[in-house]
Amino acid sequence: MASSFFFLTLLLLAAISAVTPCPPSERAALLSFKAALTEPYFGFFNTWTGTDCCRHWYGIACDPTTGQVTDVNLRGESQDPMFLKYGRSGYMTGKISPEICSLSNLTSLVVADWKAVSGEIPTCITSLASLRILDLAGNRITGKIPTDIGNLWNLAVLSLADNAISGEIPTSIVNLARLMHLDLSNNQLIGELPYDFGKLVMLSRALLSGNQLTGSIPKSVSQMNRLADLDVSSNRLTGLISVELGKMKVLSTLKLDGNSMTGPVPSTLLSNTGMGILNLSRNGFSGTIPDVFGAGSYFMVLDLSFNNFSGRIPGSLSASKFMGHLDLSNNHLCGTIPIGSPFDHIDAASFSNNDCLCGNPLKTC
Ligand SMILES: *[C@@H]1O[C@H](CO)[C@@H](O)[C@H](O)[C@H]1NC(C)=O
Ligand SMILES: *[C@@H]1O[C@H](CO)[C@@H](O)[C@H](O)[C@H]1NC(C)=O
Ligand SMILES: *[C@@H]1O[C@H](CO)[C@@H](O)[C@H](O)[C@H]1NC(C)=O
Repeated sequence: MASSFFFLTLLLLAAISAVTPCPPSERAALLSFKAALTEPYFGFFNTWTGTDCCRHWYGIACDPTTGQVTDVNLRGESQDPMFLKYGRSGYMTGKISPEICSLSNLTSLVVADWKAVSGEIPTCITSLASLRILDLAGNRITGKIPTDIGNLWNLAVLSLADNAISGEIPTSIVNLARLMHLDLSNNQLIGELPYDFGKLVMLSRALLSGNQLTGSIPKSVSQMNRLADLDVSSNRLTGLISVELGKMKVLSTLKLDGNSMTGPVPSTLLSNTGMGILNLSRNGFSGTIPDVFGAGSYFMVLDLSFNNFSGRIPGSLSASKFMGHLDLSNNHLCGTIPIGSPFDHIDAASFSNNDCLCGNPLKTC
């Protein structure tokens, strides 16, 4: 019963794709795209033959009624049987041909984790108004993010991480009203985050670490009601953490480490019971650590190391529900280390290089 249903489904699928082959212009665009790339190990481009690019072309999917190409999905790291068979991850050289821009109904363009695809992002890509996923991460792409990236009003995922992209983040990016996931980590981006970055109200992950971004975190960020994960670590950011940033409702991961930020840590940030991973390490934060922890505090990571914090370790820390990884080393803290279950498993390195801390696990006071 189940198997006859399976074969019926197969027949039906075959019938659909046989009825609407891809338009010759789209097939030609894919062949130009292929011609600009070299994939020496798997030979998956060998499946890109025949007149109907909607049938058996690896990584290609089409609209069943119009036959137009909707997905170009080429990932160099995946669970695909092809990778298991060859026992290695993907490698591909070449460029992304601007011919890809003639696939006017494309919703997904993924050319990710091939390590060596180079060249620039074709600027015409911003004309692909149906595009929802643009993932070119894990290559050697250079040049700038297209100025008109904000024209891609359907975009939900923009990942350009782990490339060599330079220049500024285009201000038009804030027009991507449906963007949920932004990953520009580990590139060579300079300049400031757009002041109205907070217009990206659908965004849940903003990953911008490992660039050379300057300026401060825009005030508007605190209006991003869905933002759960903000990682701007390893940049050149300055300025303060605003009280409003600390109050954000769903923000649970905040990585500001490895910047040049200064000023005090707002108590709102440390009393925010949704906060689970907070890394402020290697900045110029100063003042005392607010004594605002409690039974609702649940930190997988609380890393305040390599700053300029002074005063005592707040006693309320020992009332926290959970403290996975605590690092207060390399500051100017002084006084007795509080006693309590969150401190039982924390070793001396977490308190080292302060001015005058004492008590377990350091020397007795
Ligand atoms: C496909 O693209 C054409 C030309 O851009 C457009 O007119 C049409 O609405 C698109 N169809 C869908 C289903 O997006
Ligand atoms: C916090 O950030 C620092 C500096 O980037 C890094 O070395 C450290 O491993 C991070 N802490 C944790 C617990 O991940
Ligand atoms: C650290 O804080 C002290 C005051 O507590 C201040 O005098 C000093 O300049 C600060 N150092 C840095 C590197 O910010």
